[in-house]
Amino acid sequence: MEHPFGAYKGTKRGKMPTINQKLKEAKFVIVLTGAGVSAESGIPTFRGEDGLWKNFRAEDLATPEAFARNPKFVWEWYQYRRDIIRKAEPNNAHYTIAKIEKLVPKFLLITQNIDNLHTKAGAKNIIELHGNIFRNRCNRCGKNYGEISDPTPPTCQCGGLLRPDVVWFGESIPQIEEAFQKSSECDFVLVVGTSGLVEPAASLPFIAKSSGAFVVEVNLDRTPISEIADESLFGKAGELLSSLM
Ligand code: OAD
Repeated sequence: MEHPFGAYKGTKRGKMPTINQKLKEAKFVIVLTGAGVSAESGIPTFRGEDGLWKNFRAEDLATPEAFARNPKFVWEWYQYRRDIIRKAEPNNAHYTIAKIEKLVPKFLLITQNIDNLHTKAGAKNIIELHGNIFRNRCNRCGKNYGEISDPTPPTCQCGGLLRPDVVWFGESIPQIEEAFQKSSECDFVLVVGTSGLVEPAASLPFIAKSSGAFVVEVNLDRTPISEIADESLFGKAGELLSSLM
């Protein structure tokens, strides 16, 4: 089997043979990603220096209450983010992850990102935990809609308002049970570019670890996941993952 990390000759040489070996042996690989994986594609993260939550209040923009109070404001913010995301291209981290999927026996990508870049990079088996910014749905009847460029939230046939098909704070995550279950079944987890601060996604590496999986983290900085990671690689995901290739 061709190995996704190839023959690595970089500075993290000490860690790589172990990671390589564990990945080679893995029967079921889960990759969990957060905003950091798309940072090198030019999409702002949430909690970094120029993070979205440094400049905007989540309570005003990413809750059902905020949408009920001011649907136009919330819609406009998502249209602004759609404009940024639409222009973005996947980076080497997305492509490397898509390549790993092709090389291991069983694979699941769990992303907190709503930017569609993993799909654009060719990944197939994905749980988009927090939804997808390019879809919309009615806030009353739940009917699904595709991309819409209107400057204000359109009205559904049922009289409800269309909203982005993303998960807001305080809302339940439709596929969380599946994500929990799969995390307890996998034997290798690669966690890329998440602060590990937002539940329930933050629990997934812990569930995997307590079920015996080998946990590898790739991030600029230490996170709560570093405490349980078998290996942590600190640096930019795009550079690090592609140099590992
Ligand atoms: P955060 O913004 O909380 O964290 C991004 C993480 O990526 C940080 O740990 C950074 O150190 C790391 N990072 C940044 N650039 C990187 C790079 N080039 N390479 C590697 N790592 C890098 O984003 P998330 O953890 O995804 O939810 O946030 C989780 C959830 O909180 C989001 O899905 C969103 C947000 O509020 C909702 O909106 C419901």
